[in-house]
Amino acid sequence: MQRRQFIQTSSIALSTSPWLGNAWAQGSMPHNMAAMPGMAGMHSGAAAATALAPVEAMAAGAPLAELKKLVNTSRQPGVFRATLRAAPVSLAVMKDGTPTEFWAYNNSLPGPLIEVMEGDTVEIEFINALPQPSTIHWHGLPVPPAQDGNPQDAVPAGGRRVYRFKLPLNCAGTYWYHPHPHGFTAEQVYRGLAGLFIVRTKNDPLKGIPERHLVCSDLKLGADGHIAANDMNDEMNGREGQFALVNAQRQPVLTFDAGGRERWRIWNANSARYLRLSLPGATFTLVGTDGGLLAKPVTGLTELLMTAAERMEVIVEAPMGGGKVGLVTAPVERGKMGEVPPESPITLLDVDFSAVQPERLAALPKLPGTLRRIQPLGAVKAKKRVVFSEEMSMAGGVHSMKFLVNGQNFNMQRVDFTSRINEVELWEIANESDMDHPFHIHGVQFQVVERELDGQVTPEPLLAWRDMVNTRSGEIVRVKLVQRHKGLRMFHCHILEHENAGMMGQVNVI
Ligand code: C2O
Ligand code: CU
Ligand code: CU
Repeated sequence: MQRRQFIQTSSIALSTSPWLGNAWAQGSMPHNMAAMPGMAGMHSGAAAATALAPVEAMAAGAPLAELKKLVNTSRQPGVFRATLRAAPVSLAVMKDGTPTEFWAYNNSLPGPLIEVMEGDTVEIEFINALPQPSTIHWHGLPVPPAQDGNPQDAVPAGGRRVYRFKLPLNCAGTYWYHPHPHGFTAEQVYRGLAGLFIVRTKNDPLKGIPERHLVCSDLKLGADGHIAANDMNDEMNGREGQFALVNAQRQPVLTFDAGGRERWRIWNANSARYLRLSLPGATFTLVGTDGGLLAKPVTGLTELLMTAAERMEVIVEAPMGGGKVGLVTAPVERGKMGEVPPESPITLLDVDFSAVQPERLAALPKLPGTLRRIQPLGAVKAKKRVVFSEEMSMAGGVHSMKFLVNGQNFNMQRVDFTSRINEVELWEIANESDMDHPFHIHGVQFQVVERELDGQVTPEPLLAWRDMVNTRSGEIVRVKLVQRHKGLRMFHCHILEHENAGMMGQVNVI
């Protein structure tokens, strides 16, 4: 009940230390907040910090698991049909065998991989065996709004429905799916509900290069092995678990292909954690973003910065000399509030290059210089402006923080914008808050045009299709997009705690 109350107020109650930074300690904040009316309820909405399991409680070093694939039960060519059942499942992920209750799709962590071809018809029966309403949202995919798992179309606890859509041509790319019910998205995702989706094309210019799937997610477990509730820090800054996993494993080992070149699809499926990936000795060639291949590869990258919910495709070539190298994520400065404990780099994965055969490496053919035709979106017909902001409030005697879009909290009853189908629009996303916020909009892939910071405008060098773009504090990002379906679309910050707290709006396409 107190939990519900917390969701309704859609605000973040601030607690006293240890999360209260100096910025928040100014002014009229009383010392003894526990004495204030409304304070008692606050702790159940966002619990006080619980003792966490040490990182070593989960075993490391197992061979990297391949993603479980969702089996197509259809015999018709061009039709993918299957069932996804969201349900509690008890799995022992800790070394000592302590079971953890997750919520998972088909008992799988991460959720099974759906692999289809462009042009396919997809028919997924969704069974909701959770104690809460849920939906399946097809993140990044060009599906009609009525099939896209909007919060308006929640499937009640114990209910079921079929999602059906036909994928157009030219949408091959790396996507994912996750719940999107009003007020429950963050919790359902951190309990384990998120799966992968790849759309393939018949004419893949990178065909023949061995492919790897790396799903980065995190997990926050209490010392007793239970999934920890969000604390104040999680609600403010987005939840980051102490276990940073790849394919639901802690620091597994990837034995690199003997031929010396691999294509990695990387998902940042974290609720909030940004990734800054490096692989010492090796460089990355970026070949794809959220919505598929780039026009041209970008070579020689030593770091990949991925905002929450973003995907990338990279070509990795084995460094000469072999050995084992860690794929490391370094901390990303994203303006976290409060007294955040110091962060250090995390080794997500160990890459074992010792099987690589140097003579095959020397004989590798060159990568194609062009990957795909991407037409820049043309003349702009309409404009939209989205402002992300944060606000402190003392409503109801509770010191709280709001995450807002154009000064307002999300309201399912309110349509924030109207767009016309098939019209090129320029969306300007202005981050007037202190924290970074990753912008996402449903149903489309956009092209980033430029970024503006402190009056300096930087044109975007990459011609790419994306559904995620970070906005830094004080930054204005301009993107072009075209909606291809009529109906309601959500746009929001993809730090799931912020989305949950109302940093979301909706656009009606007519
Ligand atoms: Cu991953 Cu509203 O989306
Ligand atoms: Cu989405
Ligand atoms: Cu945010």
